[in-house]
Amino acid sequence: MERLVINGKRKLSGEVKIHGAKNAALPILCACVLCDEKVVLHNCPKLSDIKNTIEILKYLGCEVTREEDTVEVVNKGYLKDSIPKDLMNKMRSSIIFLGPLTAKLGKANLCLPGGCELGPRPIDIHLKSFEKLNVNVVKQSGKIACSTEKIKGTSINLPFPSVGATENIMLLTALGNSKTLIHNAAREPEIIELQNFLNKCGANISGAGENCIVINGVKKLHGCTHSILPDRIEASTYMSFAAATGSTISIKNICNEHIEPVVFAFREAGCEMLFGENELKIIAPKRLNRIMHIKTLVYPGFPTDSGMPIIAMSCVAKGTTIFEETIFQNRYNATLGLNKMGANIKIYDRIAVVEGVKELYGADVEATDLRGGAALVCASLAANGITKITQLQHIDRGYENIEYNLSVLGADIKREKD
Ligand code: EPZ
Repeated sequence: MERLVINGKRKLSGEVKIHGAKNAALPILCACVLCDEKVVLHNCPKLSDIKNTIEILKYLGCEVTREEDTVEVVNKGYLKDSIPKDLMNKMRSSIIFLGPLTAKLGKANLCLPGGCELGPRPIDIHLKSFEKLNVNVVKQSGKIACSTEKIKGTSINLPFPSVGATENIMLLTALGNSKTLIHNAAREPEIIELQNFLNKCGANISGAGENCIVINGVKKLHGCTHSILPDRIEASTYMSFAAATGSTISIKNICNEHIEPVVFAFREAGCEMLFGENELKIIAPKRLNRIMHIKTLVYPGFPTDSGMPIIAMSCVAKGTTIFEETIFQNRYNATLGLNKMGANIKIYDRIAVVEGVKELYGADVEATDLRGGAALVCASLAANGITKITQLQHIDRGYENIEYNLSVLGADIKREKD
């Protein structure tokens, strides 16, 4: 087992380059199942979720190679139609293989992805949509079997703008000769990115980023070369690191527009942000003001994944921040560790009341989920003394080289054997 050892209360300075977005790369890798020619993906982050997805592509029969941040996928034309439990269970977003495999092979057999630390992660919206598109879905003893003679395009109204369901429907209907409309589609930047990638491969999709996405199925998809867009959540996490330590840092390789939904929070906290060409300089005050109220919403609202690191920085602000989570059930797992470090956070169902304290102090804590782990790192940078963080597998799912990046910014942080 490994752990991070952080000696806090050091100012950060310098610059950090943001990696390609995990939540864009994952559905794009699943989409490679649909492509008959080579796909070259640049700016593909080195993360365990990506590694697991590549393992699944290889198991299915694709040839996948990685050279630094470039991943090449060649679909050899004979794909398996099932994914074994051990590969499925490593990462719940493997459910996004359901659409492309069913589209390509007319059938797919996966096991139900478990819930995760954030709570039950149902896929009812995915499956009900598939049935409307003439897919026969059988759920039995933890497995899902999908089969169809032919996808029949139709108009789908999502009860909730689910990111995963939107992606799965796009991948199910990209091939074929029918037209599908997705109303109340998710509007996250990663959805637009998936549309752009698929259209580069010859698909005919429009409307991503708006309420209704129109997919006209095409006969085949060739390959393409594509560079993954920057990770807006990694960017907001590093903004929280700077804010929590009263630092000034530059964050490079961002998409300014995608940072917009969190800017109000950092501004209210007293941070100044100077935007340049795909970069941002954040200047944090010595001590943050409290942020009155943050409510997470689907895009373009405040993103749920940016929440926990902002809660962590609010632990040392002047005053009380009210944080309201509307997307996931258990977003606040890291509260235990934060309070162990001297924070004063009280949870009332989906509301977190964060009363700012003068000082946090180092402690031995455990990461419980991806963004909760990032919150513990954030708090440890601001804390007085040594913090040891274990269960790093959660953090490594979404943050490439976090200790290297923070060391370059001047943090006293080491990864060592636990
Ligand atoms: C994606 O998860 C992201 N994951 C999440 O990022 C992100 O937090 C989430 O979108 C919201 O933006 C990836 O892209 C790999 P949803 P996803 O379907 O697709 C309910 C991270 O930290 N729901 O929009 O699973 C569901 O229970 C991860 O990087 C149903 O009820 O999100 C949840 O409450 C965490 N039925 C809500 O919708 C369904 O069929 C949001 O889910 C599907 C979803």
